[in-house]
Parts: sequence; C-alpha cells; structure tokens
Amino acid sequence: MSDKRAIGVFDSGLGGLTVVKELIKALPNESIVYFGDTGRVPYGTRSVETIKKYAKQDEEFLLNQDVKLIIAACGTVSSVAGDIALDLPVPYFEVVSHSAKAAVKATKNEKIAVIGTNATVNSRQHEKEILRLMPSASVLNQSCSLFVPLVEEGWYEADDIVVVETVRRYLQPIIDFKPDTLILGCTHYPILSEVIKKVLGDEVTLINAGTAVAESLTEFLKENGLENGGENSPEYRYYVSDKPDSFVRLASILIGRQVDGNKVLKVDINNL
Ligand code: DGL
Repeated sequence: MSDKRAIGVFDSGLGGLTVVKELIKALPNESIVYFGDTGRVPYGTRSVETIKKYAKQDEEFLLNQDVKLIIAACGTVSSVAGDIALDLPVPYFEVVSHSAKAAVKATKNEKIAVIGTNATVNSRQHEKEILRLMPSASVLNQSCSLFVPLVEEGWYEADDIVVVETVRRYLQPIIDFKPDTLILGCTHYPILSEVIKKVLGDEVTLINAGTAVAESLTEFLKENGLENGGENSPEYRYYVSDKPDSFVRLASILIGRQVDGNKVLKVDINNL
C-alpha cells in the first residue's frame, strides 16, 4: 500500500520548520504542506481559548490541502490544545508526548528540565507526561519568553553576545538544577541549540521535538500503510498568514536547504 498525499504540518510561525527539517531527513519520500501562522505569532502568550481557535483554523486549512495526517509542530498548541484532535478525520501528532518519551529514555540522573513558552510551561504537560513514564524523575520547568522573538528576528548565532547573555539569564535556574537532559519544549528553540550548549555545556542532552516526532511517525506510517512508495518525487509547499519575504529568508536556514520563494504563498487564514 502507498499513500502519496502530503503530511500537513503547522506552527504559529517559523519554529515548526525545525520539525520539517527532521521529517525530510527521516522520511525523504514524503511530501509536506506547511502552514506557519506568521501573521499571528506568537501563540505562547495568548489565552488557551485563543490558541485553540487558531489551531482549529490551522488544521482546517491543512485539511483543505488533502493531507493524510496533521502534525501540530508547536509546543504551545501541543501543550494546551490536545482536544483539537478529537474530531479530526486524519491522524494527529503533537510534539509533547514524543519529547517526554525521548527525554525519559535519555536521562541517567533522572533530572529533566523543560523550556518553553509561558503557555507551555504553565500547562506542565511535559512534566505530567515525564512523571507518568518515570515517577521517580525530578522536573524543572522554565519559560523563556524572549527566545521566540529572537529566532523570528534571525538572532541565534552562538557568537552574538546579546543572544548568549539572554539565553544564560533564562537558563540560570537550569544550570543550578543540574539536569542531564533538557527538552526544547518549543519548536523554535532547536535553532538556539548551539547557544544553549555553550551555556549549559555538552553534558546536557538536548531533546529536539522534531527528531522525537519523526521517529514515531516513521513507525506509524509503516504500520498503517501510509508511506509514500517513492514513485513520485516529494513536493514541499509552504503557506504563511503574513508576507512571505522574511519567511523565505529564514526558512532556508531553519530547514537547512534552499526554500524556493515561489513555493511560499500567503493565505487569509480568517477566510478559508
Ligand atoms: N513554535 C511555537 C511553540 O513551539 C512558538 C511559540 C509561540 O508561538 O509563542 O510553542
């Protein structure tokens, strides 16, 4: 069996592209349709009600693109809006449970830290999932509100003093906690991995939601006969809710391959 329909991925902005990068690596035959809600980013500072409303619209847009499954490549949506998956006609993947599973597998000292947006950290969803899998674990949650604007602005270089000092300030409680594993609970954060490693040291394992979800998805597609057999070369399409220019520039960096500007289109998410 083979299913050549695309995988649908959405995020509040650019961050979900770190998940797309891992999907392309793990599943090179699969086509992907990405929606980044760049006109309404960030989600992480908004109410649960608003986040759910936005996430529903994002899903509806992807369903109109005839996708075979949907990935909420957004830590915030995954943390606070789990019930948006309930009426979906296609399978749904979020990033929290897969990250928690990977962290529990990686930790030796059973001390796991989680960083994310305010909404994600307040939900404590990662912590609940970690403790379900490993009741003896200690978990420290830390919100890092300025990380998303830094990344959206294209500031993530490990030799940029402003970035390094911002990251150090947010991560100080984590340095004191001494975990051996850190969940990057927001999909924007992998782009700051080099800076985070510089601040925390190489001994701390960073859990990237993209890698974690790509691993589970590979198995799921195989088990359910949903893989693209590879007769057609994969297609990558990107949609945004604000002007595509800055998205195109940063997308190539986040995905690690050139994104064709003609494949990035603006949609009116409020009028589907
Ligand atoms: N990528 C989103 C997340 O993983 C970004 C956060 C936001 O929109 O505030 O939470």
